[in-house]
Amino acid sequence: MDFIQEIARALAEATDLEAEEIAQSIEIPKADMGDYAFPCFRLAKTMRKAPPLIAKEIAEKIKKPEFLSDIKVVNAYINFYVDKTVFVKSVLSEVCEKGGKYINSEVGKGKTIVIDYSSPNIAKPFHIGHLRSTAIGNSLNKIYKALGYNVVGINHLGDWGTQFGKLIVAYKKWGNKEAVERDDIKELSKIYVKFHEEAEKDPSLDDEARNWLVKMQEGDEEALSLWKWFCDISMKEFNRIYDRLGITFDSYAGESFYNDKMAAVVDELREKDLLTESRGAQIVDLEKYNMPPCLILRSDGGTLYPTRDISAAIYRKNTYDFDKCIYVTALDQNLHFAQWFKVIELMGYDWAKDLVHTPFGLVSLGDGKLSTRKGHVVLMEDILNMSVEKTKNIIEEKNPDLENKEKVAEDVGIGAIIFDDLFNSRIKNVVFDFDRMLNFDGETGPYAQYTHARACSIIARSGAKKSEKDVDYSLLSDEASFNVCRVIKEFPEKLAEAADKNEPYIVARQIIELCKAFNKFYNENNIMQSEEATKKARLSIVFAVRDILKSGLDLLGLKAPEQM
Ligand code: ARG
Repeated sequence: MDFIQEIARALAEATDLEAEEIAQSIEIPKADMGDYAFPCFRLAKTMRKAPPLIAKEIAEKIKKPEFLSDIKVVNAYINFYVDKTVFVKSVLSEVCEKGGKYINSEVGKGKTIVIDYSSPNIAKPFHIGHLRSTAIGNSLNKIYKALGYNVVGINHLGDWGTQFGKLIVAYKKWGNKEAVERDDIKELSKIYVKFHEEAEKDPSLDDEARNWLVKMQEGDEEALSLWKWFCDISMKEFNRIYDRLGITFDSYAGESFYNDKMAAVVDELREKDLLTESRGAQIVDLEKYNMPPCLILRSDGGTLYPTRDISAAIYRKNTYDFDKCIYVTALDQNLHFAQWFKVIELMGYDWAKDLVHTPFGLVSLGDGKLSTRKGHVVLMEDILNMSVEKTKNIIEEKNPDLENKEKVAEDVGIGAIIFDDLFNSRIKNVVFDFDRMLNFDGETGPYAQYTHARACSIIARSGAKKSEKDVDYSLLSDEASFNVCRVIKEFPEKLAEAADKNEPYIVARQIIELCKAFNKFYNENNIMQSEEATKKARLSIVFAVRDILKSGLDLLGLKAPEQM
């Protein structure tokens, strides 16, 4: 039952307002003020009376529907109290039917969302800075899918550009094949760092690197085969990490994919009279929009990061006909996106408004930014291993007889990192802290996974095979049981809000709310020793929480082990 729609209908009968409009302004009040509230302030203008008086008059006229236990007026608000048994029944019987899909909806049906995320740079290590884009993008992908959207996840690999010229020089000067084959990216990034150190002393190295890039652009065989080799080595490492995170993409079309598509775009820019020459380079002047120019072609004719992004956006619009195309990158790329979004707009594409940059703050180890150039990189794989190792120790201490210890430690150790990353608004910086993220009693991934495992174990001990519907819901009128249902009922709205704002933390926080509500319910209500009908009713809550937590954790990209 949709309580908001029902209340709106009752209100519409008592006023001259449309139910649709009323539904929009119904609020969920703070504790003790009922379950739903209708504020009357806005009616003062048309009804020419004080809002509290309006509230009183409307409330007197309402025919109380059966699912409401009470209607009370507090100042300008009409507060509605839903009958607890009706409420609990409506939530639990629906979850019983739909399982974890209770939180899903169909609002996105027929619409396509493209999400560009992770997108690491080839030949550079996958460091913990990439973690954020990967975790946020993957979660948004799942959130939109749960809302019925068709989602295309794209890994826009950084597989073209100046770094390859540098890497080729570095490899030819200081690299050796065996070392690269043995240590793959670690070796590549070592010689890449060396290149920067040496180039500071000897700037001619930069010219050599530029020459190699030109050779790549011209299709030189040696240059391209080295490039391809670096790409393969990198992908091997990236895939190892994606496998562990359980992440796949629908497309791996990286920057090099647009090599043969950019000339047409540059022509189009020229035809639309948007290009100007500046010190030999081709730019789009954005002074009118208070931005530095967007660089399209270097003086040697080479393309740039924005050229590739513009071409990619046009390609994606033509290929996927997206309703929205989301880019998940660090905040420091704000200007880059603002500039080329503007260029798309100036080209006359009205879908420029559907391009969305979704920035996030920095990750640090408490000692500032992570850099690849200076060599202080913290590798993603090392971080994952560390977390899994620490989790193993915790399991060894808490539950040494657990089956599948290795697998559980992997799921929990990695889950802890992802959850921690997604627990705050994107824009906040994340300071890495294992003690915080692995605290089983904190607002953490392990806590949520543990709560899910607890629900699984209660079910296993009860011997119940599945959730049942013919339950006496009046046995669940206590505050703690009701509260669990209230949190479940809010979940679909939170999911929609998370997509609206592109903020997975809204889902993460709702998961924690549910865990807290469930643990309180569990502490206050005996399940196993209660009388048969009560046990059955309480188990229906346990089943519902298990299903919702499992789907909720999946929305963030976390596994939900059944035992911990
Ligand atoms: N490779 C870039 C980096 O690591 C991120 C690419 C983001 N996507 C895009 N279409 N520009 O900074």
